Amino acid sequence: MPAYPKLIVYYFSGTGNSANVARWISDAGLAMGMQTDVVNIAHVKRLNIPVPDDDALIAFCSPVHGFNYPPVMQSFIRRFPKGKNPVLLLNTRAGMLIGQWITPGLSGITFYLSALILKLKGYRIQAMLPVDLPSNWISVHPGLNRRTVEYLHIRNRERVEAFAQKVLNGQNDFRSVREIIQDIIISPVSLAYLLAGRFFFAKTYFASAACTHCNACIEQCPVKAIKSVANRPFWTFKCESCMHCMSYCPHKAIETAHGSILAFALIFSSIIWVAVIQLAGTTLHLDNALISFGIQTALMIFLLGVWYRIIHFLLRYKWVERIITYTSLTRYKFWGKRYKALKK
Ligand SMILES: Cc1cc2nc3c(=O)[nH]c(=O)nc-3n(C[C@H](O)[C@H](O)[C@H](O)COP(=O)(O)O)c2cc1C
Repeated sequence: MPAYPKLIVYYFSGTGNSANVARWISDAGLAMGMQTDVVNIAHVKRLNIPVPDDDALIAFCSPVHGFNYPPVMQSFIRRFPKGKNPVLLLNTRAGMLIGQWITPGLSGITFYLSALILKLKGYRIQAMLPVDLPSNWISVHPGLNRRTVEYLHIRNRERVEAFAQKVLNGQNDFRSVREIIQDIIISPVSLAYLLAGRFFFAKTYFASAACTHCNACIEQCPVKAIKSVANRPFWTFKCESCMHCMSYCPHKAIETAHGSILAFALIFSSIIWVAVIQLAGTTLHLDNALISFGIQTALMIFLLGVWYRIIHFLLRYKWVERIITYTSLTRYKFWGKRYKALKK
C-alpha cells in the first residue's frame, strides 16, 4: 500500500529528460495503485494554478539551467498556491559517461531555493533527487553518442524507480544534500545566469536556409519565446534555451550562431565596447565595481539584442546566411546529433 492515495507530478521539459522522469515516477505510482496526474507546466496558466488535493503527494521535476531551475519553473513554484502536502523535488542534469562512470551534473541552488519557497508556503519537503540524464546543451558541447545516451537512460530509469519505491511508501530521501559544498561554491554563477547568461544564450539561435517556414518551432516553443519577424523565426529574450526548437525542428534548420557571437564579442570587446564602457564610466562616475559591472553587463545584453536584430535582417542575403551557417558548430557532423530523450 502506498503512503498516499494520489500523486501529482508537475514538470517542465525541453528535450524530454524531465518528461521521462515525470512519467517514470507516475508509472511507479500507478503500479502501486495510486491515482496519478502528470502536468506539463508549459500548458498551465501560472496566474491561476489550481489548488492540489490535500491528500496528494506533489512532485516538481525540471531540468537544471544555469545551476537553478529554469525561470519558467521558478515562476511556477513562486506562484504555486499554499498548502501542507508532502513534496518531492526532482531535477534532471547534464550526465556524461567516462567508461562506466556517470559523471554527475551540477544542481547549484535548484533544490535549496525551491525548497525554501515551498516551505514558506507551508509544504513539507520529503525528498530531493537529481537525475543525471544525457546533457542536451549542444550549443556548448558536442552531442553525446548513442551508447552513452542509452546507458544513461537505462541506469537512471532504474535509479528513479528505486527512488519512487522509497518515497511513494512515505520515506524521506535527502542524499543529494551530500553535494551541498559544490552547490554552494557554484551558487554565484546561478545568479549570473539568471540575471545575464540566459539573455545571452537566447540570442544565439537562428534558422538557416534549410528553414521551410513551417513554424513548428514557433508553435511548439514551451515558453512561447519565438516569433516570426520578416517571415523568419526570431528568438526573443524570453527564450530559456531549453533546446526544444533545435532538437525537434523537422528540417534541422535551427543552429547556434557561434561565429556571429564570436564576431560580436570581438568587435565589442575591442573597439566599441571599450569606448562605451569608458564613456559610461566617466559620465556616470562609476566608482563602485559591482554597479559598474552590472551596467556593463546590461549594456552588453542590450547591444547583443541590437546585433541580433541586424544579423536577423541581414540573413535575407544568401551570402550572410552562408557565413553565419558555416561558422555554426552545430551545423557540422563532427559536433554530433541534436539530442532527443529516448522514449522507453
Ligand atoms: C541552457 C541550459 C543550461 C543547462 N545548465 C545545466 C546546469 O547548470 N547543470 C547541469 O547539470 N546541467 C545543465 N544543463 C543540462 C540539462 O539540465 C540536462 O540535459 C537536462 O536533463 C535536460 O532536460 P530536458 O530534456 O527535460 O529539457 C543545461 C542545459 C541547457 C540547455
